[in-house]
Amino acid sequence: MRAREIRISSDAKQLFHDAAAKFVEIAQIAVREHGRFMVALSGGSTPRSLYSELAGEFRSAVPWEQCIFFWSDERHVPPDDPESNYRMAYETMLSKVPLSAKNIHRVIAENPDAAAAAEAYQEAVIDVFSLSPGEFPRFDLILLGMGPDGHTASLFPGSAGLNETKKLVIANWIEKFKSHRITFTFPVLNNAACVLFLTSGTDKATMLKDVLEEHHEPPFPCQLVKPNGALIWMVDQAAATDLKSA
Ligand code: 6PG
Repeated sequence: MRAREIRISSDAKQLFHDAAAKFVEIAQIAVREHGRFMVALSGGSTPRSLYSELAGEFRSAVPWEQCIFFWSDERHVPPDDPESNYRMAYETMLSKVPLSAKNIHRVIAENPDAAAAAEAYQEAVIDVFSLSPGEFPRFDLILLGMGPDGHTASLFPGSAGLNETKKLVIANWIEKFKSHRITFTFPVLNNAACVLFLTSGTDKATMLKDVLEEHHEPPFPCQLVKPNGALIWMVDQAAATDLKSA
């Protein structure tokens, strides 16, 4: 893994502007270098403002037609469910930009069989990346968030998915939610050319310090994200309050 980079923006507004600029930079380089930008979006609430920035102020800078969108994880719900990560990204960005439906690869999470939904998503990734057996995709960018318990994607502390080393996508049972979530595994996250964590707000400050500056046994899932490419944490001052380096 290249050296971890931590970028602190003055406030949330600046953070999402800075993150959008970074997204555009990576996208433009990827398209220049290999004709397309393979990106996995994160879910939850934090990225909403990033997606709005990309569809707004940065709209003309993004090479939309060469962007191929996946999701790092998805809840086990239909695409029109308020909990759906696909729905959030579609409403805030994908529905507002010049992009063909063929560029959007959502998890078919309405399938009542979560394992089958994960298997189908894994097949879609293998197909789009033209992977050989045992090969992992190399995303140009994987966006991730940090949960209050140190989870990322849908890799939660204590969940079976933390130990997956062969599959690209799994249906991970999350006991506290009494439900499955479909998620990329660590081999996929750690094969990315760039992983970009986006963290905002004072409610994340304690966990952010734990993840970035403390040793934990077992490690928090966020601490197991060690891509062979770049690892960048983009945070605002509120989230960085407890960091030594802030
Ligand atoms: C999800 C995300 C999850 C998220 C963190 C942070 O499906 O919820 O993939 O990993 O990034 O839980 O969520 P917030 O941005 O809402 O704090």
